[in-house]
Amino acid sequence: MCKKFLPLLSLLAVASATVASETSATVDPGPRAGPAGAGGAIAGLNAGQQEYFGVGLQNFQTHELIANGLGPRFNADSCASCHAYPAVGGSSPAVNPQLAEAVAYGAKNTIPSFLSLNGPVREARFIATPQGTPDGGVHSLFVISGRNDGTNASACNAAQDDFDAEYAKNNVSFRIPTPLFGAGLIEQITDDALAANLERNHTAKRKLGVAGRLNRSGNTGNVTRFGWKAQNPSVLVFGSEAYNVEIGISNENFPVEREGNPTCQFVPRPNDLINLGGGNLEGIMSSSETNAFFMRFLAPPAPSASSPGGSDSIARGKQQFSAVGCDSCHTPSFTTDSNAAFTALNKQTVALFSDLALHKMGPGLADGIQQGLAAGDEFRTAPLWGLGQRLFFLHDGRTSDLIQAIQAHASAGNASYANSEANQAVKNFSNLFASDKQDLLNFLRSL
Ligand code: HEC
Ligand code: HEC
Repeated sequence: MCKKFLPLLSLLAVASATVASETSATVDPGPRAGPAGAGGAIAGLNAGQQEYFGVGLQNFQTHELIANGLGPRFNADSCASCHAYPAVGGSSPAVNPQLAEAVAYGAKNTIPSFLSLNGPVREARFIATPQGTPDGGVHSLFVISGRNDGTNASACNAAQDDFDAEYAKNNVSFRIPTPLFGAGLIEQITDDALAANLERNHTAKRKLGVAGRLNRSGNTGNVTRFGWKAQNPSVLVFGSEAYNVEIGISNENFPVEREGNPTCQFVPRPNDLINLGGGNLEGIMSSSETNAFFMRFLAPPAPSASSPGGSDSIARGKQQFSAVGCDSCHTPSFTTDSNAAFTALNKQTVALFSDLALHKMGPGLADGIQQGLAAGDEFRTAPLWGLGQRLFFLHDGRTSDLIQAIQAHASAGNASYANSEANQAVKNFSNLFASDKQDLLNFLRSL
């Protein structure tokens, strides 16, 4: 069988029955076995930087208590609960820790129906307020009321939102954790490099229907790049925001508690703060800062040269990936700033497979949430490095199957949203011969 990508027109001549029966033979090889190939520090750190990475790693894994400022509302009690797999700093683990953390230490939280033990970690955003105006914010799932983890929160009268009622009204949009491996390298790609990349191969991209734009800060004009909608500029800002939103710990970047309810406040605010009397530097730094060092210095995930399917199949799959147009959004690599302050992050290749830009992804993926410039149907091209060991895909974790994740890229426009920019690339993928498709899937699971 011809292993080369054929132009669309000649593929149309292939009997559709043949294509269909070949399709059923193609499978996602599933999460790659073997070592995680992720979770360690990036090469080239000096001793001091390695120490900060280590302190950050510890803080990142700390299960926070009310005495540290946990709550009044939270989605989980530690960064590493959600950023867990295949190593600390990754994405959702196979067993969702939220179910146990919700009722730890005697808390009486109801588990919303969209969380399950074998499903992804999820956080929930409401699309609209009860008045019908745009909401878009994260509604933290659990409360500390009734919890006694050393500090007794029986006086706290915060009650959970009725998530199942909102879910039944189609008012909830989910997000699963994005992996943090290589985040420091992503931080060091210049705005100019991102803008130039978006303009590269302009004609070919437009032919495929691919456009895209960078999300930018309304204040500085800089490109924002972290999160499913590229809504955030740095790991420090995103991590501090997560500390406040996911865990309920106010800090220097987000000093005000999200919920002021005085019956649920047990420690001074901001909860996490630089400690000037902290003795050595590690004692002085806030957890928000050391968390940021951990993330900044996390090594990128290591791909496999031969698994799954062997090195020939992976090499062919990489060619197919570009031939069908996946790389018109999933840019294979960038180089970091040539004068980055940290040597380990200076002039490094970042093989992330993303342009970090927003694309219109059609009504099928649209979540109705606006963040910065990102509209309800726009998402950041998800970086594909580390895909080989990922368990859940897409912003809401709707699938664990790569083929479904690819097919979900395609949807025709409707009254609210435009056609997905990925429609043609997905069509090209679907028209591949089964063996070519398998090569492409093997390539993705080698990452
Ligand atoms: C309840 C689960 C949960 C917890 C706990 C959590 N996160 Fe996350 N994290 C997420 C989700 C979900 C996203 C994607 C959010 C989005 O884009 O809207 C995310 C995204 C991020 C990102 C953006 C990475 C990228 O490239 O997109 C950073 C940085 C981050 N988290 C840091 C942290 C830190 C630091 C902590 C602890 C203080 C933390 N997170 C705790 C769920 C969690
Ligand atoms: C128009 C730009 C675009 C094109 C073309 C495109 N993608 Fe994507 N891809 C995205 C965006 C945006 C997301 C995130 C969507 C979401 O989560 O809702 C994504 C997500 C993914 C994911 C899930 C990653 C994760 O972290 O969950 C996979 C796998 C993927 N793409 C593979 C492919 C393959 C294979 C092709 C070619 C057949 C392709 N993509 C073509 C923009 C694109």
